[in-house]
Amino acid sequence: MSTEKDFTELIFGLSKKRGFFWGPSPEIYGGSSGFYDLGPLGKLLKNRLESRIRSAFVRSGFWEVECPTVSPAIVWKASGHLDGFIDPVTKCTKCGQAFRADTLIEEQAPEAHIKGLDTEQLTEKIKELGITCPACGSELGPVQQYNLMLKTRVGLDTEAYLRPETATTTYLLFKRLLTFFRDRLPGSVFQIGKAYRNEISPRQGMLRLREFTQVEGQIFLLDSHEVDWPQFDDIADETMPIVPYQVQERDEDTVITMTMKEALEKKHFQTPAYAWCVYLAYSIFRDMGFTDETMRLRQHLPTERAHYAADAWDVEIHTRSFGWVECCGIHDRGNYDLTRHQEFSKEKLSVKVDKRPVVPNVLEIAFGVERPLYCLIDNAYVSKDDRDTAWLRFPPEVAPIQVAVFPLMGKSELMTPAKDIYDRIQDSGLITYFDKSGSIGRRYRRQDEIGTPFCITIDYQTLEDKTVTVRDRDTMKQVRVGVDDIVSVVTDLVHGRRAFSSLQ
Ligand code: GLY
Repeated sequence: MSTEKDFTELIFGLSKKRGFFWGPSPEIYGGSSGFYDLGPLGKLLKNRLESRIRSAFVRSGFWEVECPTVSPAIVWKASGHLDGFIDPVTKCTKCGQAFRADTLIEEQAPEAHIKGLDTEQLTEKIKELGITCPACGSELGPVQQYNLMLKTRVGLDTEAYLRPETATTTYLLFKRLLTFFRDRLPGSVFQIGKAYRNEISPRQGMLRLREFTQVEGQIFLLDSHEVDWPQFDDIADETMPIVPYQVQERDEDTVITMTMKEALEKKHFQTPAYAWCVYLAYSIFRDMGFTDETMRLRQHLPTERAHYAADAWDVEIHTRSFGWVECCGIHDRGNYDLTRHQEFSKEKLSVKVDKRPVVPNVLEIAFGVERPLYCLIDNAYVSKDDRDTAWLRFPPEVAPIQVAVFPLMGKSELMTPAKDIYDRIQDSGLITYFDKSGSIGRRYRRQDEIGTPFCITIDYQTLEDKTVTVRDRDTMKQVRVGVDDIVSVVTDLVHGRRAFSSLQ
């Protein structure tokens, strides 16, 4: 990730000042890196993202489940996480500080090619490039593997781990889910819940968290479904910006925009079901407010894939803070997981195909909510050029506050109709904020700073002709709208069913 350090500091400063996120948490005790608190606006933004994600999955035929976040060691032995969920770590030979070896090399020698190198090769690279401890400048020790799971105990002494992903806990439900699906596949489920990763010295704030909210969709299906996936026809002519791995192997970073049909014909995707899954992830990120200008789908190099993945693509978002940020993984996990859990649990996790037991495959969409949340703030930032303050251009549908309502003055003849409009808009489901303090200019500025797309002002003309002003954040223009129409007008504006310019 290439960084623009000043911009990153600016976004962190702004987010803390305006109540998006605070940390590292707990701040009053000095903070522990990798843990953050969400402030009121951050929580509103996260709720909005989660509700859009939830709708997208439900619309696509997924059922939501929720599982415990702590599971006994055998689960993680079976899933492969005890042996395989590891990061390469190097320790300073003098001050003892530990660092993620790959991140350190990328930071100190961005031109070095280290994707897919094993621990010995990373140790060699550190020597060859003369990389030293960023804290004290001394020599670094050999690269070793370090497990990222947080260990705990259940009861007196049962070894257990906080889940590093929701996915595994979903697979443990397979027998129950199969009954719920009336023994028919494919079946699709998702979870939104906490996951934990004991990252080594996380230094990218909200991007590398030790505790985060994960969203993971799983499709259980057979080989025959992978090639016969009728939903693919619905998206065959849609386009997506992709970077296949062959392009990267030629040392290029070119984004190619092509239809899903063409991408499948060119074998960038092996099956229609997997291609559909990658497109679903892309459309979820579009629902969260990202556009093709800052989004691309990148295929993993074969050497980069996780221990369970047969093919893997990422949704990446471009930020001014960190360059391209990996935000979502789409994995073809094959039948790895269910086979392993069948072996370790001794429970039958198969279905009958032509009278023979077959363990189904899994396709997965996996991401944390906090990364897109940070990227949205980064992408929304507009510096002060033609106004007194830097402001946030959130897409109206995801803005933490969608409408602000202001009585011009705190007098009762204006307060009463203003409260009535506030109540009606809030009841319609839009998040609305009532503000009666300070000059109108200052109130507009406060809303621009937190990205509220529309402000309504109730003034003395309202008492005469039953109209109010609606101000558009992006153009700062105002129009008068009838009090009786105000709820439907702002609802249409927020949901993009009507353009502000059409009101003028
Ligand atoms: N379940 C995949 C992941 O956690 O990235």
